[in-house]
Amino acid sequence: MIKIAPSILSADFSKLGEEIKKIEAAGADWVHIDVMDGNFVPNLTFGAPVVKKLRPVTQLPFDCHLMVDHPETYIDAFVEAGADLIVVHAEATKHLHRCLQAIHAHGIKAGVALNPATSLETIRWVMPNVDLFLLMTVNPGYGGQSFISTMPPKISQLRHMLQAEGLTTDIEVDGGINKKTAPLVIAAGANVLVAGSYVYGAADTKEAIATLRSGLGENC
Ligand code: DX5
Ligand code: ZN
Repeated sequence: MIKIAPSILSADFSKLGEEIKKIEAAGADWVHIDVMDGNFVPNLTFGAPVVKKLRPVTQLPFDCHLMVDHPETYIDAFVEAGADLIVVHAEATKHLHRCLQAIHAHGIKAGVALNPATSLETIRWVMPNVDLFLLMTVNPGYGGQSFISTMPPKISQLRHMLQAEGLTTDIEVDGGINKKTAPLVIAAGANVLVAGSYVYGAADTKEAIATLRSGLGENC
């Protein structure tokens, strides 16, 4: 079952509430919230107070992708704001395992994100402690970038690593996902697709989400 998590990074920030209601009505599964600190990535977005204001707007789970240094510092605030899943970058914390424990201590899901150049070995020894792996398919920091074509084998390799341990952990992909790249990542083993510019740039949001979910590609 493929889940679609539109990223509000590509939404109109002047009406974020309406923009979230729009994707909920169009069949989105989760809301992907890109938090950037201007240090881990060269861009700034929003923090926990904005997420808290958005929480009553929708029933959809909040998938909070923290592109911030020292993510452990912000876990309490994002839990309090209503996050259902907190995803931290393995590159951003010295104590990844402790960070995952801290998220789970709040009774919510914990995810680990990897930049395109980061080895899968980084997460081998925390695999059973993770609810979702997020493989970046662009370098984090901006929406609207092109999919990095060398990433599908990395997705497949992670799926095989998980299967070898008897795990069915979610694999989320993020960056450059559209009707051309969705079939590639689904075939490789991803089951949660983040899409910002493709979903928010579409004339028909419902059709865009259904197209991504079907994974059939542009000619089908
Ligand atoms: C990039 C963010 C992505 C981004 C995806 O740093 O993590 O979630 O919004 O945007 P698109 O789908 O436009 O590549
Ligand atoms: Zn993201």
